Amino acid sequence: MARKEQGRVPKRILRGRWAPEAFTLAGRRYALERVLKHDFFAVTGRYRGPDGEAVCLKHYHTEPWLGVPLEWAGRLMADREVRHYRLLADLPDVPRLVGRVGRSALVHAWVEGRDLLDRKDRLPDDFFDRLEALVRAIHARGMAYVDMNKPDNVLVGPGGRPALVDFQISWAPRPSRGPLGGIKRRLLAMFQEADLYHVRKLKRLYRPDLMTPEERAAGKERPWFLNLHRLIGAPLRDARRKFLEWVGAR
Ligand SMILES: Nc1ncnc2c1ncn2[C@@H]1O[C@H](COP(=O)(O)OP(=O)(O)O)[C@@H](O)[C@H]1O
Ligand SMILES: [Mg+2]
Repeated sequence: MARKEQGRVPKRILRGRWAPEAFTLAGRRYALERVLKHDFFAVTGRYRGPDGEAVCLKHYHTEPWLGVPLEWAGRLMADREVRHYRLLADLPDVPRLVGRVGRSALVHAWVEGRDLLDRKDRLPDDFFDRLEALVRAIHARGMAYVDMNKPDNVLVGPGGRPALVDFQISWAPRPSRGPLGGIKRRLLAMFQEADLYHVRKLKRLYRPDLMTPEERAAGKERPWFLNLHRLIGAPLRDARRKFLEWVGAR
């Protein structure tokens, strides 16, 4: 299969097939134009429809790994992300869900622009205010975004407006009664606080000139649970990196 222009693709792919060359949704055929990202869990690509319109297909892998059946995981991950896109369907800065393909892929509208990881020029002055408003609107739906520390999930769309993609690990707990309900509410509030911390952190990284010295200092104060996460997460991340380098996938 011819490899289309590639985005973030590791040297060696440990699991999962390459993005499909084409797919059909609601009677329309979309052809692969560019693979944006490929990893252990999913492959994401930009596709063109019959009228030249671009869409994004995110296909969660269903193939086993080292003999372990993982089809259920691909399906669960797709279901989860679709649920989150549906909960946010009326927010203008979240791409519209176009539909599902097969059991483990979802299609959403293409946002013309770049993500923060690729964007090199100066962001508009109101970018982070809009991003914060978007994150707060997501919170108002009873959801935490959770993946906010990744600049590649933040898009700079038309007119320099922010958009968010990648709702796989977002969390919108279903209501529960009693102590479980209380625990969920507290955890949700923690994740939401972390989202806002990460918006401030991105602002400090990309437009520190818009912050007062006090805001810059306050933005450095990490919530205690993120410090705990760093304490546990950093050694795990290093071990994962060493493993991937060892098998030649990085
Ligand atoms: N609707 C979209 N419009 C434009 N670019 C997108 C869109 N969806 C995803 N992307 C790009 O594809 C990349 C991978 O998509 P993402 O959903 O974040 O996958 P992953 O869960 O593997 O990180 C993003 O970092 C972004 O650059
Ligand atoms: Mg992502």
